[in-house]
Amino acid sequence: MADSPILITGGAGFIGSHLADALLARGHAVRVLDNLSTGKRSNLALTNPRLELIEGDVADAALVARAMSGCKAVAHLAAVASVQASVDDPVATHQSNFIGTLNVCESMREHGVKRVIFASSAAVYGQNGEGMAIDEDTPKSPLTPYAADKLASEHYLDFYRRQHGLEPAVFRFFNIFGPRQDPSSPYSGVISIFTERAQAGLPITVFGDGEQTRDFVYVGDLVQVLVQALEAEWLEAGPVNVGLNRATSLKQLLAAIGEVLGEMPTVNYAEARAGDIRHSRANNARLLLRYEFPVATPLREGVARLLGR
Ligand code: NAD
Ligand code: UD1
Repeated sequence: MADSPILITGGAGFIGSHLADALLARGHAVRVLDNLSTGKRSNLALTNPRLELIEGDVADAALVARAMSGCKAVAHLAAVASVQASVDDPVATHQSNFIGTLNVCESMREHGVKRVIFASSAAVYGQNGEGMAIDEDTPKSPLTPYAADKLASEHYLDFYRRQHGLEPAVFRFFNIFGPRQDPSSPYSGVISIFTERAQAGLPITVFGDGEQTRDFVYVGDLVQVLVQALEAEWLEAGPVNVGLNRATSLKQLLAAIGEVLGEMPTVNYAEARAGDIRHSRANNARLLLRYEFPVATPLREGVARLLGR
């Protein structure tokens, strides 16, 4: 078992590749299944003989079964992470974002693999709990195909837990940031867009007044929690928010970027995005109860690492 790999679906992406690095550093073997739609080979330490990349799709049940063979645990992160892409093409994204989960569950059952980490999202809450510290029991309101697929995936994982003894650890990520996050789409994470543009000396667009707040988590801190969930002897059922219970406004974010770069970026203000959540912040009591959360990386330090300073 010691040398059986941990399968990371979506392991060539932003969060998955950091998880791969952390697991390799802890002596685990890692197998990545990724279709390289947004993930990149260059995110992976492919010269490490303990890392294997299988290029392919989680919607392909036979391939998922092959990738699962001999694994001791799974981190299921593969998904089309862009909410807007799910709005534009619900049918295609459903294959990755829901059928992929079902294929992972089925192949785990077939191969007797029990432990699975699942990357769910704060998007399952929609606009509920806005302005409060959102806890896991806040009513769900999936407003997009992306959010609906995440919530459905959570329910299926719970079904496989009750029916087939799977051990899912479901995490609802709030706003994760850090190196390797792709800034290329207008709907990419705000920190990846702002830092890339500021570094290139390009103007930044703030949608709204810049007083909206988010609960930003540095990817390295998230990954420490995911590793614990993969290695734990025993897991309590139920989803866990991953946030810091800390509100940072876009103006504070811009100030942090300005401090790191030594000059304030040029900022234009535009109309707020339709349906934009004003304040999003996690109640993270369950996270702190169940996991050892590291001293959170301060935003300024995370931004500095992202900017290579
Ligand atoms: P990412 O796009 O960098 O990573 C997703 C990875 O999955 C990519 O490597 C991509 O190539 C791969 N992939 C996509 N569809 C696939 C498919 N059908 N088959 C195989 N591989 C496929 O994005 P990320 O930010 O690292 O997201 C990782 C997970 O975390 C996703 O499930 C995402 O929904 C979830 N999440 C992220 C955030 C965040 O703030 N970044 C917040 C909430 C949830
Ligand atoms: C994030 C998630 C989304 C999830 C939602 C639920 C990302 C990329 N998105 O959306 O999956 O549904 O949480 O909590 O992680 N902004 C600008 N200028 C820009 C880009 C963004 O002002 O160039 C603003 C947005 O209008 C928003 C804020 O920055 O007010 C954060 O945007 P973004 O990083 O896209 O994340 P969320 O909207 O919080």
